[in-house]
Amino acid sequence: MISFKKHVHIALGYFVLIAIMGVVLRLFAVTDLPFKYRYIVHSHSHIALLGWVYTGLTTILYYLYLRKSGISKKYTYLFWGTQATILGMLFSFPFTGYALFSIIFSTLFLIASYVFVFFFLKHTPENLKSLHSYKLMRTAVWFMVFSSIGPWALGIIMSTLGNSSPWYRNAIYFYLHFQYNGWFLVALCGVLLRIFEQNGITLSQKNFERFYYLLNAGVVLTFFISILWMQPHWLFYMLAITAAILQIGAFCILFGKILWERSVLQKHIPKQTGIILKFAGFCLAVKLTTQLMGSFPQTAEIISGNMDYVISYLHWVFIGLISAALAAFLHYFKWVFLSNTAMILYIIGFLLTESLIFYRGSMNVFNLPALPDISFWLTMASVLLLLAIAWLFIYQLKKRA
Ligand code: HEM
Repeated sequence: MISFKKHVHIALGYFVLIAIMGVVLRLFAVTDLPFKYRYIVHSHSHIALLGWVYTGLTTILYYLYLRKSGISKKYTYLFWGTQATILGMLFSFPFTGYALFSIIFSTLFLIASYVFVFFFLKHTPENLKSLHSYKLMRTAVWFMVFSSIGPWALGIIMSTLGNSSPWYRNAIYFYLHFQYNGWFLVALCGVLLRIFEQNGITLSQKNFERFYYLLNAGVVLTFFISILWMQPHWLFYMLAITAAILQIGAFCILFGKILWERSVLQKHIPKQTGIILKFAGFCLAVKLTTQLMGSFPQTAEIISGNMDYVISYLHWVFIGLISAALAAFLHYFKWVFLSNTAMILYIIGFLLTESLIFYRGSMNVFNLPALPDISFWLTMASVLLLLAIAWLFIYQLKKRA
């Protein structure tokens, strides 16, 4: 028997580890540390996307679509094999950066993720395949496969053009974009739709199709926002702006449905899940707005040259939207207990870190007065976030005991 709770606790364990690594990264701006900054960034980002989010999401996908398909034994092998590759990355990246072992483990991870996609596409029972939520999930896992062109290309680019080539940066952005805007975001929408379906709420076929095509056209075309740093032909700006508008259109349909069905949803969705989902929804609305604002030549130029803006945008999406929505769904499926204290600390820590990074990024752009010791306070705010995540993790163990 597969213990979903155990799998989810492993995912939460990674969440704590990435928060620890995140604090270490922030500490670099305050003091000297005996590590290589870039190596810690590599391990932090790999464990975040592939440890925490991938493990959390694939557990939900297996539970929703595959648990009755008779592949629990094969899936268990795959799960532990995948975990071995994540641990391999965890113990190689911080010490060697991109080198033999970390490359071997990340390649094995990619292969394991392809096997997961194969299981998902082949073994989902036919009766579930006609669901709207399945259609979204199928697209989400294809985005995951598509994103992996990035790492494969990176290998070729590093050995031919070198890591100072613009193609190197574009390959990383390609991977990141199709991971979080494609695979994660579309899969999270799929989970929401599955919850709707389980509670008797369905989008009409016409509305679903509108939502589906606007969302996915948006996912593909918003990639152009990631290449605006190259100051390309004006056509790319037009495509980026169109994509951002398409996505706003898609989420207007979804938000409209949520508002329409709010009394049914309030009955079926636990209060804590609802609060976190509303918070994630707010972060999504801000993401959609900044995406549009950042697609114009003047703003794109300011943002792409400002690392603080880029990192604050990415973490707005990762911590505020994706991690929060994922935690809410894990709570909905009763695998995670949410502590109110941890939730409040999380939101405060998140808003503080985001405001401080954004302010630091804005100091030069808007000639704002320098805040004394801003990097120190940013580290402290990150510690608050780490405490919230660690609290959430320890709370599971306490509740289980
Ligand atoms: C306490 C929480 C966190 C802190 C303090 C933190 C901090 C940081 C810092 C300082 C960087 C380095 C930026 C750079 O110099 O390039 C970074 C990068 C990154 N973080 Fe986090 N992070 C946290 C949580 C997360 C989470 C939850 C995720 C995803 C689910 C995430 C994903 C990433 C990714 C993908 C990068 C690499 C970005 C790039 O390559 O440009 N982080 N983080």
